Amino acid sequence: MTDEQPAPNPHASADEVAAAYQDTKLAQVLYHDWEAETYDDKWHISYDERCITYARDRFVGAVGADNEEPYERALELGCGTGFFLLNLMQGGIAKKGSVTDLSPGMVKVALRNGEGLGLDVDGRVADAETIPYEDDTFDLVVGHAVLHHIPDVEQSLREVLRVLKPGGRFVFAGEPTTVGDFYARWLGRITWEITTNVTRLPFLREWRRPQAELDESSRAAALEAVVDIHTFDPDRMEAMARRAGAVDARVTTEEFSAAFLGWPVRTFEAAVPEGKLGFGWAGFAYGGWKTLSALDENVLRRVVPRRFFYNLAVTGTKPA
Ligand SMILES: C[S@@+](CC[C@H](N)C(=O)[O-])C[C@H]1O[C@@H](n2cnc3c(N)ncnc32)[C@H](O)[C@@H]1O
Repeated sequence: MTDEQPAPNPHASADEVAAAYQDTKLAQVLYHDWEAETYDDKWHISYDERCITYARDRFVGAVGADNEEPYERALELGCGTGFFLLNLMQGGIAKKGSVTDLSPGMVKVALRNGEGLGLDVDGRVADAETIPYEDDTFDLVVGHAVLHHIPDVEQSLREVLRVLKPGGRFVFAGEPTTVGDFYARWLGRITWEITTNVTRLPFLREWRRPQAELDESSRAAALEAVVDIHTFDPDRMEAMARRAGAVDARVTTEEFSAAFLGWPVRTFEAAVPEGKLGFGWAGFAYGGWKTLSALDENVLRRVVPRRFFYNLAVTGTKPA
């Protein structure tokens, strides 16, 4: 990051938080600056074989095995801590990377992660609606779980196509479908209510998180509602990518039964004290998710319409 880049603000004032409820981009910065340093732990993000495989599988699932590698220069929008691009680079998909995010705290952590991994990475604070790079700069633009935060997604896709070189490709993965988001939120809400109420029972007290932490989680969830702006319908997303100027626009979806396990598991983990659930639980959660993902991929994909799956990925190219 160069010197003129804005500094992270992990401890927002009460006035700033109040203002963020009326200003989605301020909310993005405050919320993500606040969670940047703990984000990798919270989401079990790592930069080893497990997450390299996860990132590669999302990418290849979207583009197909023919368009796999290697891209010379790649840009990530809404990079967070760098989970997607850094792991794609480690997996041989891209050689040189630029990580960008609206949150200065996230860019700082992503650059630190990239440097720690010895990758060829630079980065800057950037809004995905006005990408601060020249036309025709990148061979690949990627993002993971970012489009649903951007007010004008079509404008952002136009920007993506502008900074791509002719023939260059974009891939955005990990976006919630409209149907998937509906059942995921209900599963999360029900799990949270059951866990936080059952752990009031005297003999389950040690499973209850301190009230201050639960209150903080509830405040974070309220701000989350301000930063999560969109859910997507696969057909409409394809049409939007084409309107923005993409050719070969294609949407794929994944995780159906896996999401029915994943959301309660993640919510339960957030509702009980840290460190309470050891390795056995981690093995159950990851093993269960992998088994159900295989069921989704090999069986349910053939019978369940794509809009019922939880995750959506969109890819396309700039006309050559
Ligand atoms: C859910 S996080 C995902 C982070 C990372 N891609 C990952 O998958 O772990 C969404 C990220 O998008 C960023 N973001 C939100 N709105 C943005 C915008 N308009 N331009 C660029 N980044 C944005 C947030 O600051 C946050 O870091």
